[in-house]
Amino acid sequence: MAAGHFVEMKKRGEKFVVLTAYDAPTARLEVEAGVDIVMVGDSVGTNVLGYASEREVTLDDMAHHIAAVRRGAPGVYLIGDLPYATYDSEAQALASAALLAQAGADCVKFEGAQPDIVRALKREGYEVCCHIGLESQHQEGKRRQGKTAEAAAKLLADALALDAAGADFLVLELIPRELAAKITERLRAPTIGIGAGADCDAQVLVVHDLAALGTRDFKHNRRYVELGAALREAVAAYARDVREGRFPAEDNGFSMEAAELAALEKIIA
Ligand code: KIV
Repeated sequence: MAAGHFVEMKKRGEKFVVLTAYDAPTARLEVEAGVDIVMVGDSVGTNVLGYASEREVTLDDMAHHIAAVRRGAPGVYLIGDLPYATYDSEAQALASAALLAQAGADCVKFEGAQPDIVRALKREGYEVCCHIGLESQHQEGKRRQGKTAEAAAKLLADALALDAAGADFLVLELIPRELAAKITERLRAPTIGIGAGADCDAQVLVVHDLAALGTRDFKHNRRYVELGAALREAVAAYARDVREGRFPAEDNGFSMEAAELAALEKIIA
């Protein structure tokens, strides 16, 4: 599948679904549940790797997790993040994109309005997702963007420039819904919103937020299941069972044949 598939969906007014995954079993479950695009974001750093910031994520981290997701979901369209400071020049962006593509990414995503980087990647045949609004790699905190007319006009101009440069998708993060709607309406490329209202062509969430696996909660998120609480309870029940001799039970193990056991007893007597 190629990005053009999603441009056609945009033209037909069909929304599509994007969700992050960082490992094979989660990616497989997401595809079974009908997710259209799996995104291996640099959010892997704070959600899985225990880093304090997305800035600590390396290209090797990304390649490792992209490869795992690709093994779990061989046919899915996969967007992979270029980490912080790995696309500071055209040459560096191309070298970084090559690593992610080799690991299994169909499309590379980077933060910020850099149409030159889009053009360089497109010239070499990469599919490209841009990411504007809140840029976690470049801005401190999870702050809303584009709230004033001036800031919103700048984001719209950035979006148009990235679209004209050939971007295949645009992630819009934490911007007002009216601005996201105007950007979506004017772009050829499908928009993927997160905290940007319902008018984007697609939505993305971080799977750890959706499943309430982490400690954080965000206004833009909906917790569809309390997996963190369920896992904690399950682990506590396991720990109680081990300590009180209820696990493992008879049927969690197996026994030796009587003759083998008798022979063993003779050997070790
Ligand atoms: O890193 C990430 O998961 C992202 C999404 C939140 C869009 O960039």
